[in-house]
Amino acid sequence: MKRFEWTDWWNERKDRYLISDEPFLDRDRFCSLCVGTGLPDIQQRSTFRFRNVRDGADRFIGRSKSGEKPFARIYTRLGNPTTEYLERVLFQLECQHLIERALAEDEQEPTVGSMVLASGMGAISTTLMSLLASGDGVIAGNVYGCTDSLLRTLSRKFGINTYFVDTTSTAAVEQCLIEHPEVAVIFLESPENPTLAMSDIRALAGIAREHGVLLIVDNTFCTSYLQQPFRLGADFVIQSTTKYINGHSTSVGGSVLGPFRFMTAEFFTMAKDLGPTPSPMDSWLNSLNVQTLPQRIDAAVANAEKIAQYLAAQPRVERVYYPGLPSHPQHHLVGKQMRNGGAMIAFELEGGMKPAERLMNYFARHDTPMELAVSLGSVISYIEHPASMTHHVVPAEDRLARGITDGLVRLSVGVEGLSTLLDAFEEGLVEAYRGVATPSV
Ligand SMILES: Cc1ncc(COP(=O)(O)O)c(C=O)c1O
Repeated sequence: MKRFEWTDWWNERKDRYLISDEPFLDRDRFCSLCVGTGLPDIQQRSTFRFRNVRDGADRFIGRSKSGEKPFARIYTRLGNPTTEYLERVLFQLECQHLIERALAEDEQEPTVGSMVLASGMGAISTTLMSLLASGDGVIAGNVYGCTDSLLRTLSRKFGINTYFVDTTSTAAVEQCLIEHPEVAVIFLESPENPTLAMSDIRALAGIAREHGVLLIVDNTFCTSYLQQPFRLGADFVIQSTTKYINGHSTSVGGSVLGPFRFMTAEFFTMAKDLGPTPSPMDSWLNSLNVQTLPQRIDAAVANAEKIAQYLAAQPRVERVYYPGLPSHPQHHLVGKQMRNGGAMIAFELEGGMKPAERLMNYFARHDTPMELAVSLGSVISYIEHPASMTHHVVPAEDRLARGITDGLVRLSVGVEGLSTLLDAFEEGLVEAYRGVATPSV
């Protein structure tokens, strides 16, 4: 069964322009694209003047004038030039190789569309609602709590069947596709929030294509700097720009890149009708902050690698989940699909929740580095407790099956001085076990 009339067009273009043996864009070129050629003015306005009635009517049918993006100068819910700038930057970061290949062929029609929305959840909900119809199915991995909750709501109220599958097992996903032919979409995060489990994106993209379904990758933990899912065969790349793109926790936002024909027709219509519109000011902030994306991530990753090693060597730390450690079950995928192991870590302490709570409360103090806070990808390190915070909406039974134990702690490593962070861990772990006998090592 062919679900979407554009899939042949899209698959042919994916093969020609997007899928690549080179997993990433060269770092220097990535840095230059982030910096760009000048930030736009902030068009902090809800509406735009038409020159005359004809001009207004033309704009409503998407006819653009003198190179302006269609719909970006009608009313900000339909588009805004400041947001349009960010859409272009995010498109280039993920699709520079596509641009070069298409230019070499003198291709006129765009392949990938880019849209920025008011939040990561705005991006996820708009994508799912524009792709799915009642009776369709979704395979989802261990996803962020609100994505999980949205999928359950879509199942309960709108007739979408959601199958939560361990997407780290390509065989389990394939089995589910065989058993449930109504599945239209696979949605995954890799690495997953908060367990850092990784899925083989290239293998899953192959299976998705064989079964005529679409693969959506939530790339929030990586951004295009650490992972470029289109090169591996994905159909949609989503991220919460609230995280690394913004990088300073000053705004909430999201983005979607996907098949141009779908983005301009169904996705755009759903986005303008649902209304998760980013504010021009937030788009401008993100356009500013994305200029230093690779440098910030490099600094955070350098810290994270050392902190993961430090934690792994502590007798009181029972488990460390970090893709860059050889002990990580999918460590072999890092070289294949990630530039490095990233800056997110999860770990479990001996004794579970009690010492974990003490450690997090230590970092909640004003005289220690880090913040006890949700969110991630900021220059500030954040520590949080997934079971009671970001993933509390996932039913307890499912949480445990996915490894989100009560003792699991998630750490988003920032760019503070490494020795400051390591000294604080040293002190924090002493606090966590004050009065508890030292284990025999
Ligand atoms: C992996 C992932 N996807 C999506 C989201 C949602 O993003 P936002 O908070 O911008 O809506 C989050 C938020 O934490 C996340 O961690």
